[in-house]
Amino acid sequence: MKKAVIDAHNISKVYNPETIPVYAVNNVHLHLLEGEFTALVGPSGSGKTTLLNMIGGLDKPDEGTIYINGTDITKLSAGKLIDFRLHNIGFVFQSFNLIPVLTAKENTEFIMLLQGIKKRNGKKDYISCLKKLDWRKR
Ligand SMILES: Nc1ncnc2c1ncn2[C@@H]1O[C@H](COP(=O)(O)OP(=O)(O)OP(=O)(O)O)[C@@H](O)[C@H]1O
Ligand SMILES: [Mg+2]
Repeated sequence: MKKAVIDAHNISKVYNPETIPVYAVNNVHLHLLEGEFTALVGPSGSGKTTLLNMIGGLDKPDEGTIYINGTDITKLSAGKLIDFRLHNIGFVFQSFNLIPVLTAKENTEFIMLLQGIKKRNGKKDYISCLKKLDWRKR
């Protein structure tokens, strides 16, 4: 049986609760299995980015639980959450958010260095990573 990589229950987020509340995400459940490909579709302002930010650990919900690979990320401290994101979550942003002064190789190596991969077999790993993206010549 495939395991759940994302298992979110009753998640809600309200912006500006004290002034003009905006109920951006209201009591959402989401259950995604390993290897599944899912598109989140909806009109502008329907809460897609807010939901993704919470599932990605960039923002906290006001209510609900979000299990990623079996860990409830809503319970993690800021420091633990940063570490969890590094090892468990990948984000492809609309803008690339690469470090502009670094090359493609250095941008790739930087994340692998943070993950401690370089110490094991850094060079080979970064090449295979860029190969997968067909970026080796960049
Ligand atoms: N930081 C914020 N402060 C207050 N309201 C916000 C904030 N971010 C988003 N909102 C509001 O929350 C609602 C959901 O916005 P969100 O950006 O999640 O929608 P979206 O589906 O990603 O939209 P789009 O398709 O335009 O990217 C909208 O009404 C938006 O105006
Ligand atoms: Mg959006």
